[in-house]
Amino acid sequence: MSNRWDRLTKLEKRIFELRLAQARPDIDASLQKLYGGRSDFAVWVERYVEIAREAYAQRPADLRDLDLQRVHEADWYQQSDMIGYSCYVDRFAGTLKGVQEKIPYLKELGVTYLHLMSLLQSHSAPNDGEYAVSDYRSVASDLGTMEDLTALAKELRYHGMSLCTDLVCNHTADSHEWAMQAKGGNETYQGYYHAFPDRTLPDQYEENLREIFPETAPGSFLYIEAMEQWVWSTFNRYQWDLNYGNPAVLGEMLDIILNLANNGVEIIRMDAVPFMWKQMGTTCENLPEAHGILQAFRALSRVVAPGLVFKAETIETPDNVVPYLGSGTFTDKECGIAYHNSFMVYLWSMLAEQSVVLSTYSLQQLPEMASAAAWVTYVRCPDDIGWAIMDDHAAAVGLNGFWHRSFLSDFYQGDFEGSFSCGDVFQYNPETKERRICGAGASLAGLENGVEQDDSYRIDLAVQRILLIHNMIFAVGGIPLIYMGDELGMTNNYSYLSDPELQDDSRWLQRPMMDWELAAQRHQANTPAGRIFQGLRHLSLARQKTPALHSAAASNAVWTHNDQLFGLIRQSPRGRILVLGNFSDRPQRVSSTRLDELGFGGDLIDQLTGQRFAGWMDVDVRPYGALWLKV
Ligand code: GLC
Repeated sequence: MSNRWDRLTKLEKRIFELRLAQARPDIDASLQKLYGGRSDFAVWVERYVEIAREAYAQRPADLRDLDLQRVHEADWYQQSDMIGYSCYVDRFAGTLKGVQEKIPYLKELGVTYLHLMSLLQSHSAPNDGEYAVSDYRSVASDLGTMEDLTALAKELRYHGMSLCTDLVCNHTADSHEWAMQAKGGNETYQGYYHAFPDRTLPDQYEENLREIFPETAPGSFLYIEAMEQWVWSTFNRYQWDLNYGNPAVLGEMLDIILNLANNGVEIIRMDAVPFMWKQMGTTCENLPEAHGILQAFRALSRVVAPGLVFKAETIETPDNVVPYLGSGTFTDKECGIAYHNSFMVYLWSMLAEQSVVLSTYSLQQLPEMASAAAWVTYVRCPDDIGWAIMDDHAAAVGLNGFWHRSFLSDFYQGDFEGSFSCGDVFQYNPETKERRICGAGASLAGLENGVEQDDSYRIDLAVQRILLIHNMIFAVGGIPLIYMGDELGMTNNYSYLSDPELQDDSRWLQRPMMDWELAAQRHQANTPAGRIFQGLRHLSLARQKTPALHSAAASNAVWTHNDQLFGLIRQSPRGRILVLGNFSDRPQRVSSTRLDELGFGGDLIDQLTGQRFAGWMDVDVRPYGALWLKV
């Protein structure tokens, strides 16, 4: 053990031992799932515990203090004042130091959770927007240094904001030291990846694998000349999947996680986790062992940093996503946060269809969620929209799943009669004929179209749609995550088309450089940017004052008996709120009888505006309007 451990006080050592004893059963059970059959199982378990012990010894005093606070306020990331913002460091503010200067801007918006996209040293471009990491121990040199990251985390914390960043844990860049060693013939490092001498096994695996980037990186295996072997690569050709079947890989990643935590990162977005375990004859997505890896990371990291939270990036159908928030004996013991990608899809589906039926039904089918969990709810993110609408949900409301997904692609591509959207296709799959869609939120919602046509009515409708869908992510449950530029209604970025390194990837459409000139208009109520920014600010303030929106409160989609009017009840001992959202361009009404049946008889007050509705009245909601009603 290091000198650092020896220098800890008796009490500090005792705290570690107590936490370890408490976490032991989870550490053992999760690791059993992965390596239980190995004769050296116990040796590896001890190795991981040593990694945790060393990281604990290194943990800075201010973060130990934070740990204490988190232990005493375990629901900190579920509270209704949590409001998130996500951006690329370079595109938002140039460098990490630049981000620090923008803290007042974020504060104005009410942000308490800042997600900086992958910022560790990556492969030279193209690098999948920095998701091909070549060194997990250093910050990308053009963004700053590890010291800058630590300083930023500290400054954010001082301002009441938690720092989240990515750990690209499923794959490394092929320029990472481990991959370079593997290419050079080092067998230890070849064992860090999935390497095969010929196509026999890759062909068998591929029978069940999904194509992630069918246009630009078809297939899941690459022939690596230098190794004379086939290597597994789910995403781009320069991203090699790690082999977690090798316990050494888990140890490396654990150490990296704890290092990020010791540099002040409070939430780690675990990238592409469904793909972390492979098993012949399966889709190699969402396997129990992929959960086991996350459970082990959590159990081991809690001993060092009990406040650390993992956010699962699992863009899958809802029945596959919810288990990442913990289930069975690991309820509340896996990821604390996960992306609510299906809700994002439903929002766009409701806007296109001007109908809430499919979404209401689908939300009602969501599996029950662990009580200490929180969704990240969002409208747009840097990635494409995959229409995660399940065929059986569509069928249950009289739609055909494939045709509905196809309609949504047509609509958001702008190819459907009456569409207001300017979007583009991402990775058309000729085999399944499925299309995913890219585009900035404002462009998909009609702002680009309205501005192009210089049509104030269309602009107004677009602004209202943007505010409506944001209203919904502020209310549905979880941490609303505003994606950079959406707070100003920034539209598509077409400049990527002239950049040879980016032009193949239409996701750059929604990855613009932050428009600080537009941001300067944020106080001008007569501009779209001003209306949207002030609208979101208003939502932040309202949310802070509405504890009933705590993430632990049940979130139940309800029928309003009006197919254009989305209804949702948030309910817990903290209070009951009926959220209404009008997804049409006409006023919509819910009858007083229906309100009474839903338990909202009596006088109602809208938490957003203070407007009162007498108990005998039907409630009218203006086009694209929303209400948060309380008895
Ligand atoms: C995640 C990221 C995406 C990236 C992929 C591979 O899905 O969000 O941008 O392409 O992982 O790292």
